[in-house]
Amino acid sequence: MPQQVQGVVATGRNEPVRVETIVVPDPGPGEAVVKIQACGVCHTDLHYKQGGINDDFPFLLGHEAAGIVESVGDGVTDVAPGDFVILNWRAVCGRCRACLRGRPQYCFDTHNARQKMTLLDGTELSPALGIGAFAEKTLVAAGQCTKVDPGVDAAVAGLLGCGVMAGIGAAINTGNVGRGDSVAVIGCGGVGDAAVVGARLAGAARIIAVDIDDRKLETARSMGATHTVNSRSTDPVEAIRELTGGFGADVVIEAVGRPETYRQAFYARDLAGTVVLVGVPTPEMKLELPLLDVFGRGGSLKSSWYGDCLPSRDFPMLVDLHQQGRIDLGAFVTETIGLGDVEKAFARMHEGDVLRSVVVLG
Ligand SMILES: NC(=O)c1ccc[n+]([C@@H]2O[C@H](COP(=O)([O-])OP(=O)(O)OC[C@H]3O[C@@H](n4cnc5c(N)ncnc54)[C@H](O)[C@@H]3O)[C@@H](O)[C@H]2O)c1
Ligand SMILES: [Zn+2]
Ligand SMILES: [Zn+2]
Repeated sequence: MPQQVQGVVATGRNEPVRVETIVVPDPGPGEAVVKIQACGVCHTDLHYKQGGINDDFPFLLGHEAAGIVESVGDGVTDVAPGDFVILNWRAVCGRCRACLRGRPQYCFDTHNARQKMTLLDGTELSPALGIGAFAEKTLVAAGQCTKVDPGVDAAVAGLLGCGVMAGIGAAINTGNVGRGDSVAVIGCGGVGDAAVVGARLAGAARIIAVDIDDRKLETARSMGATHTVNSRSTDPVEAIRELTGGFGADVVIEAVGRPETYRQAFYARDLAGTVVLVGVPTPEMKLELPLLDVFGRGGSLKSSWYGDCLPSRDFPMLVDLHQQGRIDLGAFVTETIGLGDVEKAFARMHEGDVLRSVVVLG
């Protein structure tokens, strides 16, 4: 029997989001229904609401979530009802050309549920990143569920489903930060701070946090940044060079998603260094760089989808490190809120008041 639950829906560009009754079908073959316990508010949800990702309104927002599998469809063997899972938005197919070459983190055919969740009048919803977890329950592909130790707080676990994984992975997987490296992180929201945590975990000797908001810089320092630069008052490229013997950082992670911050990242790295773009640009943004600089500075310019993570490898590992006290993922949870508070949480995110607001469901 399809179930009716409450969920947070964005109906149009810049319309305030609303809590609506949504219809969740029973899981079909390869699908699972998950009872959501917690879901973080990510900047990407705001991008969806603003029409910055695509125009497939109405969206069922929310995608940084953890919960309990309630039911599974035919053929599902990896998870079972009662399992505590983190939802991921890149369930790899195992069959595309990337997967077959042994690079499943680049899978080009990731899975989502085939059936649609709807509004009461039958209007089909587009779940954010194929998840839609600002809802009491959601329907996903079973491969989007990764089992982890149920002893971890759901509000913390859920964050690994997107921003925290994206940031940590940008440093440890995409940027391949190593012991002794110098790392700069531009934009210290949830994703950028997670990159700071990842850089520290990987043994970076110098971690320079850059933001336009002093409060964000303070938090970045508490997460492991060794130096901070306010790029509203100081030229970040000059500052990063000064802090790295005049050369630039080995790895610069851009966690804003704007051409001007990408340009800063490009020029703030050492020769043969690495730039990692983890911030998500909007469709109209353009970047112009002298091609000779691209050539002459060498190194690599990479994008990081979801921190190049493999959920089955990385989620349980990071939960483990958190539980051992080797990383503190609890520090990312600024406040817990209800389903009705998402619009306010967007405003607080916009004001820079929070790292993560996390919707917690009963
Ligand atoms: N690649 C991925 O897989 C992935 C996953 C999740 C989120 N993201 C993206 O990462 C970006 C950051 O997400 P978030 O949730 O941390 O957002 P956030 O709003 O919490 O943080 C953004 C930070 O950037 C700072 N900032 C804004 N303009 C700046 C500028 N010009 N210079 C320096 N700092 C500036 C803000 O003060 C803030 O601290 C977003 O674009 C989001 O869509 C990417
Ligand atoms: Zn694949
Ligand atoms: Zn996200």
